[in-house]
Amino acid sequence: MSGLLAARALPPGYEYFDHHVHDPAATRAPSQPAIAPEAHVRDCILGPWTRVGGRTSLMETEMGAYSYIVTDSSSAYATIGKFCSIARDTRINPGNHPTWKAALHHFTYRSVSYELGEADDADFFQWRRDDHVHIGHDVWIGHGATVLAGVSVGTGAVIGAGAVVSKDVAPFTIVGGVPSKPIRERFPKAVQDGLLALAWWDWPHERLAEALPDFRALDADAFVAKYS
Ligand SMILES: CC(C)(COP(=O)(O)OP(=O)(O)OC[C@H]1O[C@@H](n2cnc3c(N)ncnc32)[C@H](O)[C@@H]1OP(=O)(O)O)[C@@H](O)C(=O)NCCC(=O)NCCS
Repeated sequence: MSGLLAARALPPGYEYFDHHVHDPAATRAPSQPAIAPEAHVRDCILGPWTRVGGRTSLMETEMGAYSYIVTDSSSAYATIGKFCSIARDTRINPGNHPTWKAALHHFTYRSVSYELGEADDADFFQWRRDDHVHIGHDVWIGHGATVLAGVSVGTGAVIGAGAVVSKDVAPFTIVGGVPSKPIRERFPKAVQDGLLALAWWDWPHERLAEALPDFRALDADAFVAKYS
């Protein structure tokens, strides 16, 4: 049985993975999603040029073009934009347990594997699913950070190493700490607005290649001035 994301219409270059099984004999183009052999990818949509590192686990996660998540990380019930850089040992939407019930333990919802019920608790899993995490484009999530259930992280934001993000993060804002707090905005408002208007993350691959020298050489304000 395919998962929920199987029904989504796929943009060009995007692929659906019901339950990824590594095939060492498969040849894949560089632009196709690259999933490390020991990664677990279940019911996910991955864009072109995406990369998933070893021992990383993705479940019901959509990850936009060029985004990567490296080793020993996890993401569930999440939408991740394009060009996100997600470090190792990160957690995106780690599952909450039912704090208001008599038992926190998962025998109450993963009941079948404990031979305690005929079926698992679908309502419980729907509750987790409804607490979706949204991550914008070109977000950098630092080493060991956790983004908790229901949080939205704006485009261009930075999550500092070790942060526990319990509240929404505004675009282009750097946050850090436990619980995370804003450290600073990356750019003045005019530059933020300019980048959002440019939306370079939607540019085709060829345009990125043409602009690569300017991505390298220019600061954001000069880049916005040149391309606006
Ligand atoms: C957040 C980060 C990007 C630095 O941002 P910055 O705006 O240049 O911050 P600064 O170094 O100028 O520090 C500003 C303040 O934030 C604090 N700070 C910096 N990083 C922090 C973090 N991860 N958590 C909590 N506070 C942090 C500093 O101690 C400083 O505090 P002060 O004002 O009380 O002295 C960087 O510290 C970081 O966490 N990088 C992640 C690296 C990583 O995980 N890479 C993985 C490979 S992709």
